[in-house]
Amino acid sequence: MVNGRKTIYLETMGCQMNVLDSELVLGRLRALGYEPIADMTEADVVLINTCSVRDHAEQKVLSRLGALKKSKARRPEMVVGVIGCMAERDPDGIFSKMPHVDLVCGPGELNKVPALIEEVQATRGRAIALAQLLSRKNTPLARALEHDSIEALDLSRDPSPGGSVLQSYIRVQRGCDKFCTFCVVPFTRGPERSRPPSQIADEAKMLADRGAKEVTLLGQTVNSYVHPENGRAVRFAELLERVSGVPGIERVRFVTSYPGDFTDDILEAMRDLPKVCEYLHIPVQSGSDAVLQRMRRQYGVTQYIELIDRARAYVPDLAVASDFIVGFCGETEADHEATMQLIERCRFKNIFVFKYSTRPGTVADKRMEDDIPESDKRRRNIELLALQERISAAANQRMIGQSVEVLVEGYSKAALKAQEAEQTRGEEIGWRRSDQLVGRTRQDQIVVFHGGTEHIGRFAAVRVTAATALTLHGELVGSTSVRRSDSPAGAPPDG
Ligand code: SAH
Ligand code: F3S
Repeated sequence: MVNGRKTIYLETMGCQMNVLDSELVLGRLRALGYEPIADMTEADVVLINTCSVRDHAEQKVLSRLGALKKSKARRPEMVVGVIGCMAERDPDGIFSKMPHVDLVCGPGELNKVPALIEEVQATRGRAIALAQLLSRKNTPLARALEHDSIEALDLSRDPSPGGSVLQSYIRVQRGCDKFCTFCVVPFTRGPERSRPPSQIADEAKMLADRGAKEVTLLGQTVNSYVHPENGRAVRFAELLERVSGVPGIERVRFVTSYPGDFTDDILEAMRDLPKVCEYLHIPVQSGSDAVLQRMRRQYGVTQYIELIDRARAYVPDLAVASDFIVGFCGETEADHEATMQLIERCRFKNIFVFKYSTRPGTVADKRMEDDIPESDKRRRNIELLALQERISAAANQRMIGQSVEVLVEGYSKAALKAQEAEQTRGEEIGWRRSDQLVGRTRQDQIVVFHGGTEHIGRFAAVRVTAATALTLHGELVGSTSVRRSDSPAGAPPDG
């Protein structure tokens, strides 16, 4: 308790979907009078929103929970909860390794968190909510129960006025039906289900009213979005159009795309809708057809390259980001070489590289051998990243002299850190803490530049003066007009 108020500490690991889930859970708890605090050991309720995608992520959860043992022994009334994918995947494992955990709740049941907390407080027993029994059962009762449960959380969204909604996530789809052989997500987040387009558009409107300028539509395979409406199917391209139509929203992004389902109508929408950013996150995982087949990715290398070429033909300034797994079962040096070639060929804006980690219950776990030594995984990881760094640095160098539109997020934390490090070494630096602003371009490049508080939350035009592989540095040339063809004439520059 702080000043008689109940306190909550919520820590989030993993993907953007988890970030959004945490925001919604925290919103519900705030509405019930909980105050977020920074000290985990003193909170009345501690929740860890977990990721199961790699073993490393789960080990991190266990170590965070381990750190709570003493506090829980000292203050038994504290509620310790594990929510998200690891809760769904392995509740028994969590309870047996961490007996001081009171609550587990899977990602499809998060609307129940407030009730679960109450249950623990009232009974001093354990409270559990998992979707396991319902997921992928297609009975009408299962569907109805599940529908109520998963929609409830998103529908409860009510960001506090003045909260940080500038760049907001909106869930458009839950779950995944692809069952890539390495991936645990279809097990933890259940079957693919798209949300009604009208609800998504209403959520975008509500967020725009609270000050959102950029929205990112979230789904595991977001481009396969489809939802029936008035007897016909609304597909992803149409959803982009609807969200683009919301006044006040100036940028629309979406992640993550699945290469196999990427149809040209989406590329046309990206070309024709000025608010949709020139950015695609479209994981390829490997540059070898043999590996892609074992991963059951449902596309080949040629098909992927053709898609990227076609996307760039539609959207000339397109920035493409991708994910790679190194050291998947049976990956040879030749496979790895093929991945290097794919990276050279596709000129990604950035890539995320992961060392393969066996996930219990997946096809790869059951039928393939995790046979690549850790040292090879590590080396391949480093090689892919080094190659990409060269590509990103060269691409960013070419940006020098250009003006870019930046949505300014706030002060640069990296600049603050660099400043602190230099100060501890007693060095003089050329800029003050308050002048290093950071924001992103439409292509999702990070831009750091000098400027004052008045730019935060607005669009700025910045001329790029220097660049590294990760960051563009620049100077302010003014507030941009983000007016595009679909915006009303005469509106103020930043909406
Ligand atoms: N479509 C999802 C993918 C979720 S997992 C999305 O929204 O991003 C994110 C990334 O983690 C995947 O693209 C893959 O590169 C990586 N990944 C998934 N399972 C993995 C595993 N078992 N080992 C290593 N990396 C994995
Ligand atoms: Fe995972 Fe493949 Fe779906 S990576 S989230 S099973 S598209």
